[in-house]
Amino acid sequence: MPSERKGKTGDRTAALAEGSFPMVRMRRSRQADWTRRLVAENRLAADDLIWPLFVTEGNNKREAVPSMPGVNRISTDLAVAAAHEAVKLGIPAIALFPNTDPALRGADAAEAFNPDNLVCRVTRAVRETGLDIGIIVDVALDPYTSHGHDGLVIGDRIDNDATLDALVRQSLVQAEAGASVLAPSDMMDGRIGMIRRALESAGYQDTLLMSYAAKYASAFYGPFRDAVGSSSTLKGDKRTYQMDAANTDEAIREVALDIAEGADMVMVKPGMPYLDIVRRVSHELCVPTFAYQVSGEYAMLMASAERGWLDKNRIVLESLMAFKRAGAAGILSYFAPEAARLLQASA
Ligand code: PBG
Repeated sequence: MPSERKGKTGDRTAALAEGSFPMVRMRRSRQADWTRRLVAENRLAADDLIWPLFVTEGNNKREAVPSMPGVNRISTDLAVAAAHEAVKLGIPAIALFPNTDPALRGADAAEAFNPDNLVCRVTRAVRETGLDIGIIVDVALDPYTSHGHDGLVIGDRIDNDATLDALVRQSLVQAEAGASVLAPSDMMDGRIGMIRRALESAGYQDTLLMSYAAKYASAFYGPFRDAVGSSSTLKGDKRTYQMDAANTDEAIREVALDIAEGADMVMVKPGMPYLDIVRRVSHELCVPTFAYQVSGEYAMLMASAERGWLDKNRIVLESLMAFKRAGAAGILSYFAPEAARLLQASA
């Protein structure tokens, strides 16, 4: 049983609890920093972090995202600088999200498969630095549609199968631009298999797929939609494709399907409110499981830190450690550079 492999369950728990006070004193191992370090079960490192970046047109341009204090949309040159910084901090990968010019958004999302679109140009620029860094690019149509949905709207529905063709075309231009990891975040059925087959036949057999496999219809994505400019355009909600917050077994099926279709890594999203899902996926399916500490979680933590209600440095590291404890192989977090700096300082 996978949970047995990772220990700490079932009969062993009962055996461990048999001793009694005063022979057993749990506080002995907590008495000093050295014992606490020695018995720590999990460790958070820069290696666990993925840094999401919002990119925009221009040069040396930095636009604040008001609902995400400290986060900016940045132009290509600054994204390249951020990639250098990530490498210096030991962060293995960045994830790019474009804020597309509204004039280029349309019902057919054609800009998504323009080989010279913003995200492809940024990808190429980072690739050209020769840095040893993973470049993760989202596969979904929402930055490119006039209605803000991740799929194509036909009639009054988000059409699954028509969207698949668009996602395949988008994936191929992103792979061609040099993306190391494609991260389908659209939640259409069957997209992992379609994209994987297309990548294989086009010769991109080494392109990784990190599937947003268990992605919930969540109010915690609000600030992200501000950042990519889809909040004001989004018509309706995403409940016909993103998951219902009430469900957990469904997440297991979603993840199992994506693995069968050729995903190399899977993601659970949002993060902190869904740690039970991170735990189930990583322990029951034994695949590299990532979690996204999403924009709303960032906003929530930053808002309390700004008011002096919570201690920022400590909540950053504690919240990220919670993901490790739940079994995450890594975490996408807007706190990535800050957390990496804090970890360096405490090393
Ligand atoms: C787009 C996408 C979203 C996020 C990542 N990719 C938003 C959405 O599905 O509406 C959310 C990330 C965040 O909130 O930080 N498909």
